[in-house]
Amino acid sequence: MPLRGKNIVIGITGGIAAYKIPLLIRLLVKAGANVQVIMTEAAKAFVTPLTLSTLSRNPVYSSFVSEAGQWHNHIALAHTADLILIAPLTANTLADLAMGKAENLLSAVIMSAEAPVYVSPAMDREMYRYGAVRENLSKLKSFGFHIIPPEEGELASGLSGQGRMPEPETLFAIIRSHFKQTQALKGKKVLITGGPTYEPIDPVRFIGNRSSGKTGIALAEAATQAGAEVILITGPTTCLPGNPPYTVVPVESAGEMYQAVKKHYPESDILIMSAAVSDYKPVDVKSSKIKKHSARLNIELEPTPDILAEAGKMKRQGQINIGFALETDDEKKNALDKLKRKNLDMIVLNSLKDEGAGFGYDTNKITIIRKDGQEKTYPLKSKHEVARDIISEISHLV
Ligand code: C5P
Repeated sequence: MPLRGKNIVIGITGGIAAYKIPLLIRLLVKAGANVQVIMTEAAKAFVTPLTLSTLSRNPVYSSFVSEAGQWHNHIALAHTADLILIAPLTANTLADLAMGKAENLLSAVIMSAEAPVYVSPAMDREMYRYGAVRENLSKLKSFGFHIIPPEEGELASGLSGQGRMPEPETLFAIIRSHFKQTQALKGKKVLITGGPTYEPIDPVRFIGNRSSGKTGIALAEAATQAGAEVILITGPTTCLPGNPPYTVVPVESAGEMYQAVKKHYPESDILIMSAAVSDYKPVDVKSSKIKKHSARLNIELEPTPDILAEAGKMKRQGQINIGFALETDDEKKNALDKLKRKNLDMIVLNSLKDEGAGFGYDTNKITIIRKDGQEKTYPLKSKHEVARDIISEISHLV
């Protein structure tokens, strides 16, 4: 019963394929899902709100304000969703989402959403091939959207080619398998670290690094979607969502991160250390701001605890530890050494040599090396997709 009690938001935009959506809604409601329809004004020419509200057993929303003058809170709608599907997705709404335009309720909900968003683009063959459409679709992919490619076949224009929205049964199967897949880490406790650490020098200064924290957040999202109970211990980041469906433990320094990992590690099944932990910290933290002088200033540094290596020593039977390696030279050899030295089950290697990979980017290119020597290299992908690949690899180990 993967769909029972799930909140599914269906977004409908103005394309002829909208006629298939009432059938999809019927399948979802029959499977026990709670369906909320949001449609654009253009979609009303293809399917009526009355049909949709009757089948979904919920009012249909299309504008920010109802006829009775009530505000439809897009933030609340976005936050209660377990999954959002836009079907059909027109070239027009696709362009709005790629550009970040929140002109109607549907795009505002998508932009406030934390739930996975699936889109089913449907348009004529030539439109689907058009350069800007291709570009907008790859943008959405890099934002973490799941794209359901249109099928080949007869199109409303009388032409045939790629552009058809899949049948309602196919869309239903995609939604159901999303929730089935998400059981891969059910019952598992996953501890994730992310972000940089800040090592104080005096009350206003610190030693830090360029980590954005995005990888840790994407991993926490992917592990939660896979059914795990997640704790994310993160260094300073501005990228956390407003209301995350996992526990966040904010820390600043490597020492604080070490204490938090020591506290939560014993009852965790899986540890993923994606944090960019500072290797050194000032020996002596000044209690007042260091004054400027003309002479040179030396700050003596001492090593921070290697959190992952310490966790490797504490590891009990059945626990799985995963580390990251950001290497500039001799990448594989160094990653393998680290895997052994820190008693890891898997290491994720990202190289600074790869364009678009590493700190600050929204994309990454990784190689996963397992303890048994098995190795897999992935193409450049969004950090969300990379996180899903890592979680899927981990689910083979549990
Ligand atoms: O040894 P190196 O810093 O290259 O190893 C990287 C891996 O070790 C990452 O998974 C990182 O989170 C972890 N690490 C740690 N504590 C440190 C330094 C790195 O847990 N002090």
